[in-house]
Amino acid sequence: MSFQPQTIIEPFRIKSVEPISFTTPEQRTIALEQAGYNLFLLKANDVLIDLLTDSGTSAMSAAQWGGMLQGDESYAGARSFYKFEESVRSITGFKHIIPTHQGRAAERILFGAVCKPDDVVPNNAHFDTTRANIEACHAEARDLVIAEGRQPGLYHPFKGNIDLDRLCATIEEIGPERIPLCMITATNNSGGGQPVSMANIRAMSEICRSYKIPFFIDACRFAENSWFIKQREEGYADKTPLEIAQELFSYADGCTMSAKKDGLANIGGFLALNDDTWAEQCRNQLILTEGFPTYGGMAGYDLEAVAVGLHEALQEDYLRYRVRSIEYLGERLTEAGIPIVLPTGGHAVYIDAGALLPHIPSSQYPAQALCMALYLVAGVRAVEIGSVMFGKPRADGSEEPAALELVRLAFPRRVYTQSHVDYLAEALLYVAQNAEQVQGVRIEWQAPALRHFTARFAFV
Ligand code: F0G
Repeated sequence: MSFQPQTIIEPFRIKSVEPISFTTPEQRTIALEQAGYNLFLLKANDVLIDLLTDSGTSAMSAAQWGGMLQGDESYAGARSFYKFEESVRSITGFKHIIPTHQGRAAERILFGAVCKPDDVVPNNAHFDTTRANIEACHAEARDLVIAEGRQPGLYHPFKGNIDLDRLCATIEEIGPERIPLCMITATNNSGGGQPVSMANIRAMSEICRSYKIPFFIDACRFAENSWFIKQREEGYADKTPLEIAQELFSYADGCTMSAKKDGLANIGGFLALNDDTWAEQCRNQLILTEGFPTYGGMAGYDLEAVAVGLHEALQEDYLRYRVRSIEYLGERLTEAGIPIVLPTGGHAVYIDAGALLPHIPSSQYPAQALCMALYLVAGVRAVEIGSVMFGKPRADGSEEPAALELVRLAFPRRVYTQSHVDYLAEALLYVAQNAEQVQGVRIEWQAPALRHFTARFAFV
């Protein structure tokens, strides 16, 4: 007998639990109104299942908590730093490992050191903080994802790939002297959590090298990207996720990382790179705003949690369960005819709110409207990735909408179980069946930058 189970189970048992809070529809109506209809402004206690982000929301393992108890809080040269450095280097191979309190600090320090006004930074798709940090240097963040990556319903195994022809054309148009570095985001969060293939990364690296432009990876979800390469790219099925990750980083000159994702930690990040001069500039900036180079804004115990978490995120049992639980929700929604970004990505299911709510025009933010409906119906918090986040003002006062109106259901790592996912599917089916009752919204107040975090909305 040889038992071949079809069910992929959570590869852990639960040792410590945190209750979640049930609310009535009336309580949710009041909570949402008090939050100005912005789900970022809700109290988390008023949320039943929180899929706002997969960032910093992981459940840590016993090994991580054990490491934390051994945190060395020395200001300089802490033992925990050397553990952290060794862990990061064993995966990335980079020479200089600079801890930061989270991913955006690594971005700000890197771009602040190397970006000049009017420079251009190409990427498959910049995440919002990456874009904002480049724009804060008066430089341009240019997205060059392949055309397939912008079509939600179309299947492509590596929808996060950068369009290599457009990359070359951009370098020729701008000139390499105005491109301080090129970047690839693995997986592509803004475009559906879609992976980048090893072949694409290798080719991009060769192009950058031929123009002598440094090549960096936004590595937040490097482990999930490595798993997709193992599953989908020829020649990688027999390699471990660690070996794949090592190869992926070997093509780059550096990376920025938010350890709040595939570091399985609640806080932390790093900037890693090979160039000595850039590393020195970045460390000088680090001391000014983050901390001494052996802690960079992290506590010793945070460094310990990340050192362990980075390797746990590369374990096959974990990655198999992680990607499968997202695919499972995707299958349930697809069976019910709910349009989502296909195939499902590494950390989230992305609903195509534009297609689900055709009666709501982009100017009335269909993805925001869907997030609000999902909260009111079921207490689930998702996030808008559409025209609230990426709409651009036009000269005439109107707005250029985002390319896609998506709602992201991001899964915290190791936190929810299959019955939570079944509840989610049930809630989404209910909202979809009553789609025509979902109303459009307008923005009542907004901040000049990254408005989605603080904007106030009202029903149209
Ligand atoms: N790059 C990518 C691709 C990201 O997804 C994020 C964060 C960052 C950089 C910045 O990292 O938050 O540690 O400063 N994404 C979170 C999200 C916030 O919800 O997708 P950070």
